[in-house]
Amino acid sequence: MRALVAEAAGAREDASASELRAFGRRLVLRRLPLCSEIRLWLLGDDIDLEADCDSLQDQQLPPYWAFCWGSGQALARFLLDHPGQVRSRRVVDFGAGCAVAAIAAALAGARSVWAVDSDPAARRAARVNAATNGVEIEVANCLPSDWDVLLASDVLYEPANRDRLLDLCAPDRRVIVGDPERPTAPQLNAELLARMDVRTLPDVDSPVRSAAVFLLVR
Ligand SMILES: C[S@@+](CC[C@H](N)C(=O)[O-])C[C@H]1O[C@@H](n2cnc3c(N)ncnc32)[C@H](O)[C@@H]1O
Repeated sequence: MRALVAEAAGAREDASASELRAFGRRLVLRRLPLCSEIRLWLLGDDIDLEADCDSLQDQQLPPYWAFCWGSGQALARFLLDHPGQVRSRRVVDFGAGCAVAAIAAALAGARSVWAVDSDPAARRAARVNAATNGVEIEVANCLPSDWDVLLASDVLYEPANRDRLLDLCAPDRRVIVGDPERPTAPQLNAELLARMDVRTLPDVDSPVRSAAVFLLVR
């Protein structure tokens, strides 16, 4: 991965970061407790998710990208500790949100990284967060055709995503999932790769306190 030239990228990144808004608030640059290598533009701790979601207009999506979900941090930590999982591979982060897993894959030496999210605001945040961390990623609203490893963290709350991920498993492709194992999570045929203590940042996901990283098996 080509790191952006620090000074020039820094100026661009700060300009774009100041334009990101979630629940009408500006974001703050936060270092992740579980992945101190990564800093992301996220909401501060003064958040009341329920009240703030109630204040959204009908068509407005909750800004999930303004949080770094616990299972995303677990997946990122796993990749940083096991770079061989993605090194020299074409990687997709599906449901990227803040793009924590995409950024970790880039830092771990992936050949190329796509951050895929259906929310345009998430795609803007992914670009800014990548620049902040000095890595290049592509963003898109749907999957590219060519990839080797697909990452997905905290996307199984959407029931259709389970089948979508299963359909993407193939002999020459790996689907690695980070999941907070909520009681409502679907049962999946999977090989456990890691389980770790996590906190969403800012922490709106109580009582989730741990997350699993697993290889999906069809
Ligand atoms: C809970 S957030 C998790 C974000 C990030 N992966 C993390 O761990 O911090 C889920 C994200 O997945 C995106 N998402 C969910 N279903 C999707 C789909 N079918 N296609 C694209 N994006 C999707 C949402 O827009 C949201 O940004």
